[in-house]
Order: sequence, then structure tokens, then C-alpha cells
Amino acid sequence: MEIVELPYNVEALSGKLAVPGDKSISHRSIMFGALAKGKTTVTNFLFGDDCISTMRIFQQLGVEIEVVEESIVIHGNGFDGLKEPKSILDVGNSGTTIRLLLGILAGRPFHSCIIGDESIAKRPMTRVTIPLQEMGAYIDGRQGGDLTPLSIRGGDLQGMTYQLPVASAQVKSAILLAGIQAQGETTVIEKERTRDHTERMIRHFGGVVESNDLTIRIPGEQTLVGTDVFVPGDISSAAFWLVAGAIVPNAKLTLKNVGLNETRTGIIEAMKKMGANITVSITTEPNYFEPIGNITVQSSTLKSTVIDGDIIPRLIDEIPVIALLATQAEGTTVIKDAEELKVKETNRIDTVVNELKKLGADIEATHDGMIIRGKTRLHGGCTVSSHGDHRIGMMLAIAALICQEGVKLEDTKSISISYPEFFNDMEKLIDQ
Ligand code: S3P
Repeated sequence: MEIVELPYNVEALSGKLAVPGDKSISHRSIMFGALAKGKTTVTNFLFGDDCISTMRIFQQLGVEIEVVEESIVIHGNGFDGLKEPKSILDVGNSGTTIRLLLGILAGRPFHSCIIGDESIAKRPMTRVTIPLQEMGAYIDGRQGGDLTPLSIRGGDLQGMTYQLPVASAQVKSAILLAGIQAQGETTVIEKERTRDHTERMIRHFGGVVESNDLTIRIPGEQTLVGTDVFVPGDISSAAFWLVAGAIVPNAKLTLKNVGLNETRTGIIEAMKKMGANITVSITTEPNYFEPIGNITVQSSTLKSTVIDGDIIPRLIDEIPVIALLATQAEGTTVIKDAEELKVKETNRIDTVVNELKKLGADIEATHDGMIIRGKTRLHGGCTVSSHGDHRIGMMLAIAALICQEGVKLEDTKSISISYPEFFNDMEKLIDQ
């Protein structure tokens, strides 16, 4: 396993950076391009391992997808253009791929077998398979269909009304992707508002979906039309630099072309509440299907906060790096209502708490979050691990920047899941 010595005790950060394309939107651009009729060109696509898994799977399903000068060109033939795959579909580490794929395959009249890596093999799937079975798909797998390997044979789906038991955009999206192929209308009622990239993309590809607060309605048997997609920069990747900019002394960073969809900007609100010096300017045309803008952050004097309730789904992937931020805030920060962290790429309550403790943080796990007491001087002088979780790896690399002694990071390969150029970008921002 590769071990990297991280930069530490960094005295200044500066510069402008365009973070890589949004992971959620990149996955969906391949999927919708494949399901639409005609050509779709995707620019600023995230060439991270997860999105490459999605691309390979749709190629296995018979869709012509090419990489042309850093863009992706997809020649979709509609839902009926998908063909029975001759081999197993491997989603790798990607929860978004497997859950949305199940929604798509639920409506396709053929058999597929789906596997993933060790982390995927532990992540719950009945949250998706139960509603899809209710709509008419045949799905089976380990432990009653909860775990991979899974097999699926799509059926003639019937629309339904479904109340989501968890706040999950992946589950919502899987049902919408089945609903768009079903007979009749499908209604999904969310527990809390989650990222709405699927709904926005359906409309961008000429489809119909109505959202009213927590209720989303989608008519069945729709046809989508290929289009162009510019993928905004990923706010979940920008999050690492936002926190770095706030906690490293003498820092001023600007992140360019970042997606500012309000279902994703919880981190900006939480950081501002903690006293972070952040400014945001929207740069997109008002009618582009996703809002985009620039964010500037500077070294800040931080205070503790409580993060709970309906902001959680709007910053769920940023909680590891927010926990680091809280170690540098005066007072006790409480993060609660975040039990979903336990079923991410790792149990992120445990991995965050255990790894930050090694660096000297005063942090404890609770049943649905964590409590962090600040401000602590992180000492470093040890080896930490990503545990194969990209966001844990990057959070630890940012933590090292403010450690007094050197830190070694084990298992850095996972970072290429969402941010292959992470260490190159870090080098650009550290003042020489
Ligand atoms: C995602 C939704 C979130 C998020 C994941 C990507 C998506 O998961 O954590 O990284 O693209 O829909 P849940 O919807 O399961 O919370």
C-alpha cells in the first residue's frame, strides 16, 4: 500500500483553482446521455475512477461512448438502446453508480449481474431494491437482496407513490429513473430535501418532472433527447480547499466555476456560521440548468456551531472536512442527525474520529454524529490512513497542512475516485 509524506506546518496558501467536475453530475451526464436519443457532448467531465466505472458499464450495455479531446461524446439510442450485457457489471467503489443503475435496469427487459469492491459489498441496497421490486423489477442478491453481488431482470414497471425512509438522493434518483420508464405516474416524497441533479438533468434532456417542496412527480414512458452538458466544478472537492483556506495562516484562495446548486451549498452556510471569511459570486447565465460561480476564502477566526436537521443532506459528503474545521474553532461543535455517515464509503463517523484523534484532535463519536472541542493544535508526527475512502484521505491531507510535525498518509490511491489531481493542485496552492 502506497504511503505519502504530506506537507505540514504550511505558512501560507494562495492562488486560483478550477476544481474537477462534479461527481454526481458527471455520473448522471453519462446515464442520461445513454438513455436519450441522439448525441450528447459532456465537457468538464470528471475522469475519476467512479465516473469511469459508470462510463464502462454503459459501454457494456451497448452504448457508443467516446472520449474526444477531454470531452465525452455519447450516442444514445433511447431506453430501448440498452442491451443485455454479456459480462458482469462492476461499479467499483461507486454507490451512485450501483443505485442509479438499478433504477435504470429495473425497466429494461433483460438480465444483469452487478458487483462492486469491498466497500460496496457492505453498503445497503434494499433501500433501492425494495421500492424497485414493488414497481415490478426482479432483483435478488446476498442477504435477501441487500448486498452485492446483485442480479436484476427488469420488468414492466408500474408507477407508484413512495415515501423515502431515508434522506437519499441516490434512492430518490433510482425511483425516478424507474418511474420515467413505468406505466403511469410515479410520486416520490422525500424525508428531507436532497440534491436535485437528477430532476434538473431530466428537464435538461427534454423530460418532464415536477417538484413541489418534498414531493416529486414524474410521468412514465418518456423519451429524452441528447444535449450538451457542461459539468460544474465539484463543491465537494472545493470543500477541501475552502477548509484549507480558512485554517491555514496567511491564506487566500479562489475556487473557480464551482457548482452552487442550493441542495449542495450547506458547507458554505455552515462555514459562514462558524465565522469563515468566504465570498461567493454566481457567474452562470440564470437559465443554465445548474448554477455555477466562484468562491473566495481567507484565513479565518472560527467559532463552534451545531450542525443538524435538514442541512445534513446538503453537506453530507463534506462532514469529514467540516469536522477538521471544527478542531480549529473555539468551543464545542456538535454534528448530529448524520447517521447516514455510517453507510458511506467507510463508516465516516468512525474513520473521521479515529484518524483525527491520532493527530491530536479532541473529538468523540456519537450514535448519529460527533462532538469536537476546539481549538486544538494538531501535532502530527504519525501515520494516518484513508481506509480506502477518498474523502477521508483528502481531509487528512488538509489536516496535515496545519500539523506541527510530519504526517504520513497510507492508502492514497482512493483519492483518484473523485479528485485524481488533488496532490498536484495542493502543490500549486502552497506558497514556495
Ligand atoms: C449522491 C448522493 C449522496 C452522496 C453521494 C452522491 C448522488 O448519497 O453522499 O456521494 O450523486 O446522488 P445519498 O443520496 O445516498 O445520501
